[in-house]
Amino acid sequence: MTTQRIFALTTRGLEGISADEIAALPGVLVTAIAYRRVAATVSDGALRSLLSLRTVDDVFLEAAAWPDIGRPRKALARLRDFSARLDLRAATVVCAAVRTTEGPPANATSAAITSDAVRLSGTPLFSVTPSFVGKRNYNTEEIREAVAAGIEAGHGWRFSALDDEADFNLRVFIEHQTAFVGVRLARRPLHERAYKQSHLAGSLKPPIAVAMLHLADVRAGMSLLDPCCGAGTILIEAALLGAVAQGGDCDPAAIEATRDNGSAGGVSVAAQQWSAAALPLVDASMERIVCNLPWGRQVPTDAALARFYRNACTEMRRVLARGGRIAVLTSAPELLHFPALHCERHIEISLFGQNPTIALYASRD
Ligand SMILES: C[S@@+](CC[C@H](N)C(=O)[O-])C[C@H]1O[C@@H](n2cnc3c(N)ncnc32)[C@H](O)[C@@H]1O
Repeated sequence: MTTQRIFALTTRGLEGISADEIAALPGVLVTAIAYRRVAATVSDGALRSLLSLRTVDDVFLEAAAWPDIGRPRKALARLRDFSARLDLRAATVVCAAVRTTEGPPANATSAAITSDAVRLSGTPLFSVTPSFVGKRNYNTEEIREAVAAGIEAGHGWRFSALDDEADFNLRVFIEHQTAFVGVRLARRPLHERAYKQSHLAGSLKPPIAVAMLHLADVRAGMSLLDPCCGAGTILIEAALLGAVAQGGDCDPAAIEATRDNGSAGGVSVAAQQWSAAALPLVDASMERIVCNLPWGRQVPTDAALARFYRNACTEMRRVLARGGRIAVLTSAPELLHFPALHCERHIEISLFGQNPTIALYASRD
């Protein structure tokens, strides 16, 4: 049985959750958990199951790990040389096989899978997505240019600035002195969801919503509330897990976006206009509450942030069923207060250039 080395990139702070999701797949062995990156070996027969991952941003076949990619600008010449000599044949053959296998995996819903026809005849078009950790004397655009020039010179492939049009995406993730280089397994990034047709400012990245649902232990059949649902990401991901999802927002445009996105996702989500500070719900009626509360910056609140949090927390606590759980993403965790609930975890993540916290609360009984 042959195996492939892969790595997944995820949100900073959610590496452990993504590693657990990856490790739960049959035929997969997690080998390293690092900053934003989870590495694993995967048997060939299990590769396609990686396309069903929900908490990761994307998954790549590892093509190389280049050493000595330091801060000075001479690293750019090194990146170009390495790129020209990079062996991409194995990765492209594996991508072609995975993308053309009949039938989607059991819980697959993303556009990444349905649009995965791969063009291997002719000259492949490729895109490059670079990022780095720490200070560098060069920027991501210069990394992209160096890698693209090397690949074009060494392989005769054609660079595309538009990722949508490319047959293959090369991911260059530079961590300290090492550049991890991968070829995206799917044609489109896994974090993109086909249901996200309507977008709103402050809308959550779907993998973060799924991680929060996992943390709150949301399971099929449970009642799930998001009192500030925005474009409906949490509600839709919960419904895809089989939960009975219900939510609302003070903004009518959010209700419309949630309904549109729910229809696009083929799931039923109940959404109504309301204030999270006065929920039209009976006491102790919701088994799980998962919410991305307004941060008071990108998304305005209808009252001073502290007062809004106090009122919204009181309402969430009132409607939470006995034995229930609450997961809240916020940049102001100090404003959360849920009487008689125990704060189990605080996880700081990176999002929109900020470091908000996922706070997880459970009842003691
Ligand atoms: C950070 S966004 C939620 C984003 C959402 N999770 C998504 O993925 O699109 C916060 C939402 O809270 C809503 N909001 C603000 N004040 C509210 C209130 N008093 N009651 C209900 N919703 C409110 C905003 O309209 C906004 O849609």
